[in-house]
Amino acid sequence: MGFKKIVLGYDGSEPSKKALEKAVELTKEFEAELFIVAVVKPFEFAAIDYIPTEEIEKYEKEEISKEKTFLNEAEEYARSKGVGPFTKVLEGEPAEELMDFADENGCDLIVVGYRGKGGFKKLLLGSTAGNLVKYANQSVLIVK
Ligand SMILES: Nc1ncnc2c1ncn2[C@@H]1O[C@H](COP(=O)(O)OP(=O)(O)OP(=O)(O)O)[C@@H](O)[C@H]1O
Ligand SMILES: [Mg+2]
Repeated sequence: MGFKKIVLGYDGSEPSKKALEKAVELTKEFEAELFIVAVVKPFEFAAIDYIPTEEIEKYEKEEISKEKTFLNEAEEYARSKGVGPFTKVLEGEPAEELMDFADENGCDLIVVGYRGKGGFKKLLLGSTAGNLVKYANQSVLIVK
């Protein structure tokens, strides 16, 4: 069984770095294409009325530039292994954005780490990884 278009969800966390390594290996093995996607979550707050718009815009700009830095690192790693990936920053809920991206781009495999940035140390499986397993239309590889 092969895969032709692989999408990796990358958040810069240690598990996502391991997922990157595996995604690159698989891409080479199957002579596939690799897409690396980082999703910026929307600004979260309790009292929306009291947050000035500039604050939200500042948050989004900072987050997007952070994710771009992660993506550059990931891209550099892939290139060092002979794989030229496509990279993209999306905004929204990570699992949903990854699934939409996979559907829209005809990806046949989604690769993520078992945990990410947000979770507790003892977390067995993060919510992004869990939701992908439950709801994605594609095969999902959870790297441990
Ligand atoms: N914002 C994101 N953009 C791209 N990929 C992501 C993002 N968040 C998580 N991932 C991918 O999903 C994997 C698992 O992360 P997940 O979010 O499920 O765990 P967590 O952050 O530890 O827990 P939770 O988000 O439920 O608090 C990561 O290793 C990464 O591959
Ligand atoms: Mg998370």
